[in-house]
Amino acid sequence: MSGVERYGHGGDRWTAGEMFARSADTFIDFSANINPLGPPDAVMRVLREALEDKGAPVLTRYPDPRARNLKRALAKRYGLSEECLMIGNGGAELIDLVNAAVRPSRVGVMTPSFAEYEASARKRGQETVYLPTEEREGFQPEPEALFKWVRTVDLAYLGHPNNPTGLTIPYRQLLAVAEEAAIAGTVLVIDEAFLDFVPDGQAHSLLSRLMDFPTTVLLRSMTKFYALPGLRLGWGVASPDWIRRIEAHQVSWSINGLAQLAGEAALTDQFFEKATHRWLSVERDFLMDGLQKLSGVRPIPGEVNYFLLKLDSSVLEGSAGVSRRLQKALGERGILIRDCSTYPGLDDTYVRVAVRSRKENALLLQKLEEVLEKGEVF
Ligand SMILES: Cc1ncc(COP(=O)(O)O)c(C=O)c1O
Repeated sequence: MSGVERYGHGGDRWTAGEMFARSADTFIDFSANINPLGPPDAVMRVLREALEDKGAPVLTRYPDPRARNLKRALAKRYGLSEECLMIGNGGAELIDLVNAAVRPSRVGVMTPSFAEYEASARKRGQETVYLPTEEREGFQPEPEALFKWVRTVDLAYLGHPNNPTGLTIPYRQLLAVAEEAAIAGTVLVIDEAFLDFVPDGQAHSLLSRLMDFPTTVLLRSMTKFYALPGLRLGWGVASPDWIRRIEAHQVSWSINGLAQLAGEAALTDQFFEKATHRWLSVERDFLMDGLQKLSGVRPIPGEVNYFLLKLDSSVLEGSAGVSRRLQKALGERGILIRDCSTYPGLDDTYVRVAVRSRKENALLLQKLEEVLEKGEVF
C-alpha cells in the first residue's frame, strides 16, 4: 500500500511528513480521533509524580504483570468482577489477542470498519467474510444478513460505534446478535473504543448484560477519550473462561507501568468526562454546520468525535483519486485528514476528519474552502 495510510491507520504524521515535505510535528492532525482536551489533569499529575519520585521506580521496576490496581479500579467503576476483565497494550492488542485465543478459520468483518479486525485474520492466513453496509442504508447491516453472517463465521467483529462511520448499532440489534452468536458458538467482539464519546454511552452497551452472552467479548480503549495513544491502553470484558484463554496469549509485562498508573488516574477524573461531552456537543455542531455550507463535501452525521465525509460525486466526474488529492492539498497546508479509500467498502470519494478545538476546526473549514474553491482537488 502507498499513501499516508501505508501502515494501516490515520495519525501517522511521520509518513505524512515524508510525503508532504514537512516536519512531522507541524501537522494539525484530524486523521486520528483523539480528544483535544486530554490527557486529563489527574493523569498528568500522577505521571509527573511517578517520574519525579526518587529513583523513578515506575521505570526501574517491572510493572505489575496482572495490572491489579487498574483492574480493581475498572471493576469498581463499572460494577464488574475483576476476573471478567483484561487489560491490553491499546485496544489494538486485544483485537489481535482474541483472534489468537479463538483460532478461527473464518473471521467476520463488517465493511467499512477498523482495519485491525481484518489484519488479525490476514496475518494468520484466515478467511475474511465481509458483511457489507451501504451509505444509502445508513451504513447499518440488514438484520437477516447480520444474523446469517454471525452464524457463518467463528469470530466476528463489530464496531460500536463503528470506525469510520461514527455510528452505533441499535441496542435491540446488539442483544439479538449477541444471542445469535451464543447459539451458533461464534465469538462476537463488540469494539466500543469510541463509546465513551457518546452521551450516556453506557446505556448503549451490553456491559451490564455481558454474562448473559458467554461468547461475547467487549473491548474499550483509553487512548482516544483520555488522549493517551502514545502510552497505549485498552481493556476488555468477557466471561472468566474467555479472559483466561485470551490472556494466555499475551506477552508478559505488555502493559507498562506508566500506562497502568495513567489508566487508574483517568478513571477518577469525572470533571474531564463532563468537560469532554460539553466540548463535543458544541464543536461537533460547529464543524457539522461549517461542513454543510461547503460545496463538494457532505458530512455523514455520526455520534462521536469524527465525521465521515462524502466528496460530492457530481463534482467529481472523471476525477479518480480525489480523496488522496484532497488529503495532499490539505497536508501541504499542515492539515492531516484520513483518506478512506483504503477501507474495504469505501472508495476514493470518502475522507474522515476528527472534531478538534474551535480554533483548529475553524482552520480546517477555512483550508477546505480554500482548496475546494481553488479547484485544486476537483
Ligand atoms: C474502532 C477502533 N478500535 C480500536 C482501536 C485501537 O485503539 P488503541 O489501540 O489505540 O486503544 C482503534 C484505533 O484507531 C479504533 O479506531
